[in-house]
Amino acid sequence: MNRFYITTPLYYINDKPHLGTAYSTVIADVLSRYHQLMGYETFLLTGTDEHGQKCSQSAKQKNIPVQSYCDEMAGNFEKVWKLLDISYNLFFRTTSSWHKRAVQKCLQSLYNKQLIYESTYEGWYCVSEEIFYTSKDLVDGKSPTGKEVIKIKEKNYFFKMSAYQKPLIEHIEKHPDFIQPSYRKNEVLGFLKQDLEDLCISRPKSRLDWGVEIPFNTDYVTYVWVDALLNYTTGVGYQQKDREGEFEKWWEDTGALHVIGKDILLTHCVYWPCLLMALGIRLPKTVLAHGWLLNQSQEKMSKSKGDAMDPLALLQSFDSDSLRYFLTRDIPMGNDAPVSHSLITRRINEDLANNLGNLISRTTKMIHQHFNSQIPERKAGKATDNIESLKELGTKTTEEVKEGILSLKPHSALERIIHLLNETNKFLEQNAPWKTVKSNKEDTAKVLRAALEIIYLSSVLLKPVMPKKMKQLLESLSCPEEWPLKHFQSGAFPKGGEKIQELPPLFPRIKN
Ligand code: ME8
Ligand code: MG
Repeated sequence: MNRFYITTPLYYINDKPHLGTAYSTVIADVLSRYHQLMGYETFLLTGTDEHGQKCSQSAKQKNIPVQSYCDEMAGNFEKVWKLLDISYNLFFRTTSSWHKRAVQKCLQSLYNKQLIYESTYEGWYCVSEEIFYTSKDLVDGKSPTGKEVIKIKEKNYFFKMSAYQKPLIEHIEKHPDFIQPSYRKNEVLGFLKQDLEDLCISRPKSRLDWGVEIPFNTDYVTYVWVDALLNYTTGVGYQQKDREGEFEKWWEDTGALHVIGKDILLTHCVYWPCLLMALGIRLPKTVLAHGWLLNQSQEKMSKSKGDAMDPLALLQSFDSDSLRYFLTRDIPMGNDAPVSHSLITRRINEDLANNLGNLISRTTKMIHQHFNSQIPERKAGKATDNIESLKELGTKTTEEVKEGILSLKPHSALERIIHLLNETNKFLEQNAPWKTVKSNKEDTAKVLRAALEIIYLSSVLLKPVMPKKMKQLLESLSCPEEWPLKHFQSGAFPKGGEKIQELPPLFPRIKN
């Protein structure tokens, strides 16, 4: 069986989940569910990044013991992901004791291979990003993205990252799928044109004690990024005796897909592959860097600016399926995109209420009124010329959806489905079953049957994005929810004669 291992970033817990972090998580869930639909066995990992100065400072400001603070904040993420129907296999927390032990084993093994050495770090540190910067990296005395930095000089441990510069460039050039969308590759290669420096991978406990203790010198904790990145492997069993077979299955044999925002491109496409090469394990198959959700002033929406939209508040106005739909459809993969209440409303009204909702209601209303709520049978013989072309469009759309998912462009998959729904509404208008039903019931049945088949197909194709409503819809139309896509491709829909149930409108128009 084909397998698919997908991860989200582990989010910092200095604040609650916001729409930006929800976006990455929804995209990962949507990709994972589409792969399930295509017959893959999937594993979705998400979670929280709980060590480091940023979290420790937030706990201190609130005057809460840091572990209790982490427990509470991680709970917020789990809660919101459940409300958004994220079907994760593991909610990962970097403070889990099994993860900490595994990180220590990795560090010890790098130390034994003499890939870690002691030296003095003198430079800048950005707490907000948890990144070390040299003076030449700074822009107007701040981090390249404008965050505060502090000067530090401390004895620390370093990882010989410089040794991997050449093999990393080679890997990127040889594996066009490694960094997606492909234009992000140039950004990483551009960065790798200058000499790659070794990476500081520790902090003295006297400065920061909230982290994984370094096994060969317990006066130190490890740098938060080392601990956080390693989660992608420890989460599927790396360096854990009691989880035999899991790491080979999900990491080595499958190859991970990391969904991230473009803000953390370098840590994922430089630090992470270098660490993996040093550990002697394979690199992820793909790092997929998406763009940013923008606020009203067209800037990155962020918790530090305080303008991030709260998914819990949005769930008061929109249901989770519609919000998932908006996030997948409105932000072309890789691009930045503005987000606002009115943009969400507009999209839902246009695609879901007017297009999909209208198609469902027109078709089912006729079946209730004129066919005793029974699904018309599929009959041989041509009713109208355009039934065949509608069916062909359905088949073509299914292929395009698969292609959109496999090329990691879920927005384009949705675009194709919407096109199919549009064409089906036009098909109904051309054939006007509401007029022909009086004079020619047989042909009318064929037209409705054709429209219904597209509704089945579209509901299945939309289920990864809108799991709740599509389940409801398929059930009301007497269609077993667990039918895999293969089933529909071979044209196996309900035979006809089954009763359909009345449903309240799935997508009522939202007032602006
Ligand atoms: O960077 N638009 O955590 P973080 C889109 N702990 N996505 C956004 C966004 C926006 N406006 N704002 C945030 C960290 N994101 C580290 C990661 S991984 C081993 C460690 C999303 O809480 C996006 O995925 O700052 C971004 O990369 C991530 O949240 C950063 O989350
Ligand atoms: Mg951040």
